[in-house]
Amino acid sequence: MSLQGKHIVLGITGSIAAYKSAVLTRLLVKRGAEVQIVITPAGKEFITPVTLSALSGRPVVSEFFAAGDGSWHSHVELGLWADLMVVAPATAASIGKMAGGIADNMLITTYLSMKAPVFVAPAMDLDMYRHVSTRRNIELLKGDGVQVISAVEGELASHLCGEGRMEEPENIVAAVERFFAGGNGLGKKRIVITAGPTFERIDPVRFIGNFSSGKMGFALAGECARRGAEVILITGPTALSAAHPGIRRVDVESAREMYDAALKVFPQADAAILSAAVADYRPERVCGKKIKRAGRESFTLSLVSNPDIAAALGKMKRPGQLTVGFALETEEEERNAIRKMEEKNLDCIVLNSLNDEGAGFGYDTNRVTLLSRSGERRSFPLKSKVDVARDIIDAVFDASRNSTACNETV
Ligand code: C5P
Repeated sequence: MSLQGKHIVLGITGSIAAYKSAVLTRLLVKRGAEVQIVITPAGKEFITPVTLSALSGRPVVSEFFAAGDGSWHSHVELGLWADLMVVAPATAASIGKMAGGIADNMLITTYLSMKAPVFVAPAMDLDMYRHVSTRRNIELLKGDGVQVISAVEGELASHLCGEGRMEEPENIVAAVERFFAGGNGLGKKRIVITAGPTFERIDPVRFIGNFSSGKMGFALAGECARRGAEVILITGPTALSAAHPGIRRVDVESAREMYDAALKVFPQADAAILSAAVADYRPERVCGKKIKRAGRESFTLSLVSNPDIAAALGKMKRPGQLTVGFALETEEEERNAIRKMEEKNLDCIVLNSLNDEGAGFGYDTNRVTLLSRSGERRSFPLKSKVDVARDIIDAVFDASRNSTACNETV
């Protein structure tokens, strides 16, 4: 009874795969879970509430109000009651509504009230699944902290064959069990993440900065928080927002501010992921007033070295604490990355090359190679930064359970 006493809200939407929700309900109940089904009006066209309430042992919720007595079904209470919400099958329409917050049925209002982690298992025709709008909505959901159990290839209701079949109920249950067992979870871990650029002031209106957007660091923070970690996200100036309640955001401007913030929280942390693009140098002095051109043909700015956050954490690290760094290199990439990992006493370094199309600053995608102190190397194809974050966290923390970071080789 691996799910004994767990409260699971199972959301069912209007897909032919809804018939599999009956099996999913049965499997969850058999493992000891209490299952509350919330079904959309379209979902009821595919499977009857009678079947589902018999299998779950609870009345199925579909409308905002109970017919007859007008009593209110409280999506807020469901949001508090649940340990997990699983939407399976999730249609393109419901995924779009979840991504856009269009709360026009009980299932979406329940999702918007949900305090627990949410999984979705998409199910739709292959062209709908690969449509740019569906891809965008799925990425939005991932960014919002939802775990997406990807659709698989196979025969579809349209008799076409391709990607779009809902994952089999047994595998959805396995993902749920893994989540509760902490298999891919980071519950109780405290993780410090640095992100974004740093700005080094020259005068009240100018600074030295770089093109880092912070997207990789924010994706990592979202991924760790989704897995139950307490995240302290120390970020330089960026337009991004971190919505997950598990993320405590600390805004800084300069490398020295980032250094102070990171050193303060690291002693109580389990790991630090250093994805910020920290300025190596800062102006030796900051002018109190705007520097005037004053007829000068040239202008020399004297710079002094900034503290290295990764190296400082590497020095103060105690056994069991992990530090993970990034290296953005333009030449002799792997050699430089390995040297950096050793110099900064990192357990693992994520290498991204500026030579790769679609990878690096500002892009939504990245192509990375993970290198570990114990000599392992793992390369990944070009993926969205959200997916790259998942790969990095999987590799770093699965490996740390086996006491060497990034220990898979491809
Ligand atoms: O700038 P560099 O290539 O040395 O950066 C490699 C790693 O060190 C990155 O993880 C970066 O966040 C970190 N770093 C840091 N503090 C610095 C410079 C770099 O934490 N002052």
